[in-house]
Amino acid sequence: MDKLRMVGGTPLKGEVTIAGAKNAALPILCACLLTNQPIILRNVPDLQDVRTMLKLLQEIGVTASFPDAGDRSHLVLNASIIKSSEATYEMVKTMRASILVLGPLLARMHSAKVSLPGGCAIGARPVDQHIKGLKAMGAAIKIKSGYIQAEIKPPLERLKGASILTDMITVTGTENLLMAATLATGTTVLENAAREPEVGDLAELLVKMGAKISGIGSDKLIIEGVEQLHGAEHVVIPDRIEAGTFLCAVAAAGGEVLVKNCRPNTLDAVLVKLKDAGLIMEVGPDWIKASMKGRPKAVSFRTSEYPAFPTDMQAQLMAVNAIASGSSTITETIFENRFMHVQELNRLGADIAIEGNTAIVQGEEKLSGAIVMATDLRASASLVIAGLAAQGETQVDRIYHLDRGYDRMEQKLTRLGANIQRIK
Ligand code: EPZ
Repeated sequence: MDKLRMVGGTPLKGEVTIAGAKNAALPILCACLLTNQPIILRNVPDLQDVRTMLKLLQEIGVTASFPDAGDRSHLVLNASIIKSSEATYEMVKTMRASILVLGPLLARMHSAKVSLPGGCAIGARPVDQHIKGLKAMGAAIKIKSGYIQAEIKPPLERLKGASILTDMITVTGTENLLMAATLATGTTVLENAAREPEVGDLAELLVKMGAKISGIGSDKLIIEGVEQLHGAEHVVIPDRIEAGTFLCAVAAAGGEVLVKNCRPNTLDAVLVKLKDAGLIMEVGPDWIKASMKGRPKAVSFRTSEYPAFPTDMQAQLMAVNAIASGSSTITETIFENRFMHVQELNRLGADIAIEGNTAIVQGEEKLSGAIVMATDLRASASLVIAGLAAQGETQVDRIYHLDRGYDRMEQKLTRLGANIQRIK
C-alpha cells in the first residue's frame, strides 16, 4: 500500500490548479444512462472513484472513450446499448456512490438490481430515502440478499411523477430521484432537496439533455418528465472541497498560494472561517490568492448542509485548529462517525477530545511528526495538512483513501515547495 512521507515546516509558494469536482462528476457519469446518445464531458477529474464508476458503467454496457490521447479529463460516454441493469456487490462495496446508477437504470430500463452499499468508516449511510422516493414514483422495490431489486410493473409503463419530501437532506438521494424523474410521466416535486453546487451541476447537464427542471439551486426541484433525453456536452464544475483543502494547507503550513480554476462563490462558509483563522485572501471570479503569516487563530464551527459549512471540509479545518492559538469546538451534524482523524492527529501531538458529536481542540504551538494512518478520504487530507505543519517527518499510511478524491495531491504540493514524496 502506498504511503506519503513528508517533512513539515516549509511554507507553500506558487500556483495550484483545481480539478473538476468528484461529487459532480460521479452523478454526471451516471446521467449518461438516461439516453442512447453520446454525452461529452470536460474537466472530469482523474480520480480513483471516477475510474471505479467508469468500470461499473462499462460493465453495464456504457462505452467510454477519451478523444485526446492521454487527457482523461475529456470523456465521451455512450449508453446506447445497456447489457445489464445490475451493479454487483463487488462494485458497490468499493464505492457507495455506485448507488447513483439506480435511478437512471430504473428510468431507462424499467428495472435495476443494485447492491445495497455497505456501511463505511464515517457512518451507516443508509439509502432508505432513495428507495422511499422511487417507490413513490411507482417502482416495485424489494430488498433481497443484500440487493435492491427495483422494477416497474404493469399496468405502469414508466415511473410516474410524485411529490416527495425526504426526511433529511440527502445529496445522492436528491440526485438519484432527480435523474429518475426526468423520464417519468408527469410532474415530480422534490422538497427538502439538497442545494450542494454538485446537485446543480448535474441538473444543468440534465437540462442540456432535454430535461425540464425548475428550482435549480433551491430546496424545491420541479421536474416535468419527458419521453426521452438526448446527448449533450458539459464542463464539470471545479471541486470546492479540493480548493478548500489547499486553502487549509496554506493556513497550516504558511506561505502564499494562488488557487486557480475554482469557484469562490461555492465556498462562502469555508472562506468566512478561514478569514477568521487569519488567512489573508484576495478573491477573483475563478481564483483565490491566499497567504498566511504566523500561527492561525482557532475557529469554532459546526457542519451542516449547503450553503453552511460542509462536512467534507471538517477534518481539514480541524488540522488547522490543531496548531492554532486558542481552543475551538467542532460539531459534526451530518455523519455519526466522522472523527476518525482525531486519534491520528493526537498521535502528531494535537490535543483533541471528543464529546458526542463535538470535538474540543486545544491549539498546540507545534505538532511533531509521526507515522499515522488514513481512515477515510477527508481524514487523509487532514493528516497531510497536519504533516505539512508538523516538525520533523510524518508518514501517512493507506493513502489509497486520499487517491479516491484527490488527483496526485503530493505532486501538486511538491510544486508548491512542500517536502513530500509517495512511497510505493
Ligand atoms: C454525499 O454523500 C457526498 N458524496 C459526501 O462526500 C458528502 O459528505 C455528503 O454528500 C454530505 O454532503 C457524493 O456526493 C458522492 P447524504 P451522500 O445522503 O449523498 C443520511 C466525500 O468526502 N441519509 O447527503 O451519501 C446519511 O446517513 C464524500 O467526497 C439517510 O439516513 O450523503 C447522512 O447522515 C463523503 N438516508 C445524511 O443523511 C438516506 O437515504 C446526509 O447523507 C440518505 C442519507
